[in-house]
Amino acid sequence: MPLSIFDNTLELPNIEIKERTAHLIGFENKYQRIFNNLKILLDPEELIKWSNKFYKIELPIISQLTNRYPLIILAGDAGTGKTVSAEGFADRIVRDLKKEGFLLKLNTRVRGEGLHGQMGSLVNDAFSELKTQAGKKRLAFLLIDEADAIATTRSTLQMHQEEKSAVNTLIQKIDAVRELKGRAIIFMATNRLHFIDEAILRRSAVVLEFKRPNEIERKELFEKNLHALKLTAKQIQKLSDLTSPEENNKVGHSYSDIILKILPEAIAMSFPDKPLTFELLCETISNIKPSPEII
Ligand SMILES: Nc1ncnc2c1ncn2[C@@H]1O[C@H](COP(=O)(O)OP(=O)(O)OP(=O)(O)O)[C@@H](O)[C@H]1O
Ligand SMILES: [Mg+2]
Repeated sequence: MPLSIFDNTLELPNIEIKERTAHLIGFENKYQRIFNNLKILLDPEELIKWSNKFYKIELPIISQLTNRYPLIILAGDAGTGKTVSAEGFADRIVRDLKKEGFLLKLNTRVRGEGLHGQMGSLVNDAFSELKTQAGKKRLAFLLIDEADAIATTRSTLQMHQEEKSAVNTLIQKIDAVRELKGRAIIFMATNRLHFIDEAILRRSAVVLEFKRPNEIERKELFEKNLHALKLTAKQIQKLSDLTSPEENNKVGHSYSDIILKILPEAIAMSFPDKPLTFELLCETISNIKPSPEII
């Protein structure tokens, strides 16, 4: 197996992921939605027990339910938390079910290196690794990040034959994962949902939408991260306004614009001999434009 297929592989539960997840705004709601959808798939034996307990038979619908696909699509603009959330979901599922797990991240960047013909075999390798890792007490997660690079709709004219067959392989593999009966789950993250092949979309249990932070979320983000500065409510409001769509040609700052650009730059300008101030934060925001929206 070539080393390049996986960005990395992580054992779960993972304390670093847990700590990172704790800072994510809006994580809990999204997680509950996913968990509610997956819990039926994740524990088919418990589902049969439930049916027997209440109805003394295995309800016919149960075989239908367990035939659903363990596929979750995370869609939304750049820097809205898809990758960090996918890792967080996997870690949390393992914790909630008191199991162990394994997270494989498929590296889709190979496409950019002109390795069209290898896409199909990469998908094959990824899924066979997934199958090897999945066990009764061990959940295996596959994160196909930037999935539009691999799952692009086959109706695109410019698509190479090899790429089309990679999408077909991917669909077959998603179908085959059902045989693992809840021991393997696939996440696909994309900022171009409309490029994703219809057959893949149709198979997803949930399409979860990720957006840039709204006013309440921006305020929470600044409050949480700048807690020690003891800013007033009015100052927090101002920081939120400065990063809003209204102040920025309709597209506000993304989570990563704020966390990975604005705050580090403001800190860099204060460190090492000055404290971080509200004025400096405002100045920094006005110098950093929101990243362009991906449509
Ligand atoms: N909900 C959130 N709350 C707080 N911080 C967040 C949130 N979402 C994202 N971030 C911050 O933004 C950074 C970028 O997030 P991430 O890489 O997951 O975005 P993405 O949606 O995968 O972007 P891309 O489409 O470019 O891959 C994270 O490291 C984190 O610091
Ligand atoms: Mg990402």
